[in-house]
Amino acid sequence: MNSATPYTEMTPEEAASLIQNGQTIGFSGFTPAGAAKAVSRALAERAKAEHEAGRPFQVGVVTGASTGQSLDGVLAEADAIAWRTPYQSNGSLRKAINEGRTRFFDMHLSLLQQWVRYGFLGKFHWAIVEAAEVTPDGEITLTSSVGAANTFLNQAEKVIIEINRFHPTKLYGLHDIYEPEDPPRRREIPVFSVRQRCGAPVVKIDPSKIVGVVYNDQPDEVGGFKAPDAIPQKIGQNVADFLAAEMRAGRIPLDFLPIQSGVGNIANAVLGAMGEHPDIPAFEMYSEVIQDSVISLMEADRIKFASGTSLTIGEDLMRKVYDNFDFFRRRMILRPQEISNNPEVVRRLGVVTINTAIEVDIFGNVNSTHIMGNDMMNGIGGSGDFTRNAYISIFTCPSLAKKGAISPIVPLCSHLDHSEHSVQVVVTEQGIADLRGKDPHERALEIINKCAHPDYRDTLRGYSKDVKGGHTPQTLDRAFAMHQRFLETGSMQGTEWGSAK
Ligand code: COA
Repeated sequence: MNSATPYTEMTPEEAASLIQNGQTIGFSGFTPAGAAKAVSRALAERAKAEHEAGRPFQVGVVTGASTGQSLDGVLAEADAIAWRTPYQSNGSLRKAINEGRTRFFDMHLSLLQQWVRYGFLGKFHWAIVEAAEVTPDGEITLTSSVGAANTFLNQAEKVIIEINRFHPTKLYGLHDIYEPEDPPRRREIPVFSVRQRCGAPVVKIDPSKIVGVVYNDQPDEVGGFKAPDAIPQKIGQNVADFLAAEMRAGRIPLDFLPIQSGVGNIANAVLGAMGEHPDIPAFEMYSEVIQDSVISLMEADRIKFASGTSLTIGEDLMRKVYDNFDFFRRRMILRPQEISNNPEVVRRLGVVTINTAIEVDIFGNVNSTHIMGNDMMNGIGGSGDFTRNAYISIFTCPSLAKKGAISPIVPLCSHLDHSEHSVQVVVTEQGIADLRGKDPHERALEIINKCAHPDYRDTLRGYSKDVKGGHTPQTLDRAFAMHQRFLETGSMQGTEWGSAK
């Protein structure tokens, strides 16, 4: 018993020994931010020992989104994950999924918490949640993310708290915890502006559910960003120019609209370009992940406020934020992912959404998740939550992948995540395709002429050349010829169409 709390202090190994084969665990973590890290490492060691003794040991792992090496990485490497949802981005776990060793189902992140409450994912035996503080009466101050932690804490039978001393207790007040009623009693989500709070600063649970507290001081395992190279920079510039032009045309209000920006280097470059654009005023973000570039833009007074579900920034930057926390706490809120990504709120606030595609087809359908139709990359994440409900939805990608062997602009996506009905604007380093109000023939020309790489434009134009009639110039027997060519020769270059059968 810790003298300061009524909870049993445990080692990670003692906590891991309580977990049984076949159980389901809801871990905190949205990106590596706020992810439980100590018990998962001990659990991986336990799984390895069980496997060596010839006994099965696997658990169901549910988190807010992706996590880091200390959670998804070590558990996947120990072959300890039977099933996983809603999102991941770890190399070892991706391999386990694509080899069929781990069952993964890819979910819209805004749906996860209600699915847990509705019982769609079965019983949750454990919530293992990182916290800055837990009071004797069960009030939990989370750390650098909320994700789905509040729902796991409420729904799980038993709770283990990882107190992480890297995160200061002054985080109290950063979070806004609101959990809606379930249908048919659900009311409107009471968020009418980016900065509006509607919930509590802590997650309050029955303290008798807390079977143990583990102490840890490991920072979040967030990789830093490299300075964007020329292509992401040009994509960022194109997005910023497009949004400035929309504002000048009166289609975006002069005081601007909230921005959602996806994850990764392109997203970071887009925000950087928006921050530097002379015609774009200081703006707000209603987004999922608050990443590195947001912090510098806040310091420069170019981002006025950011609402998200995770603060996903590198260790040095996190220390800087904590050192100047009075400045940053007035400019940020972390909400549960069902609120940060809530379709009702996204549409109400008029969020302009910017996400990255793996493939875009010439009709404006987008694949965010799969490589060549088969292999899972990361998952749909929040991109569907935002895209479908956007004021303007934008997808970005480079016009070439794999040193030119692949054109991400294809005749038909090899997997579909966002349909032509939701995708409004496509941006590559080549240019901007505005699909609003265009029919499929016009869309195809717009995307090929403005976004495809010049090396692939003629090939793409050839795809529909002898299609007669029909609303969409699609040729089913040729639709995947570019993919097929890549699989057979290692490059999409030189695809020939022949005549349509
Ligand atoms: N065909 C085959 N491979 C492709 C490809 C294509 N059309 N386009 C990209 N790739 C490969 C890249 O070469 C790279 O391979 P590598 O890992 O072997 O180097 C890999 O896919 C990732 O590409 P990269 O350019 O590094 O991607 P990124 O970091 O910008 O991420 C997504 C792009 C789509 C994977 C990422 O944004 C994602 O997971 N999106 C879905 C979730 C989401 O949108 N979340 C935000 C919502 S808030």
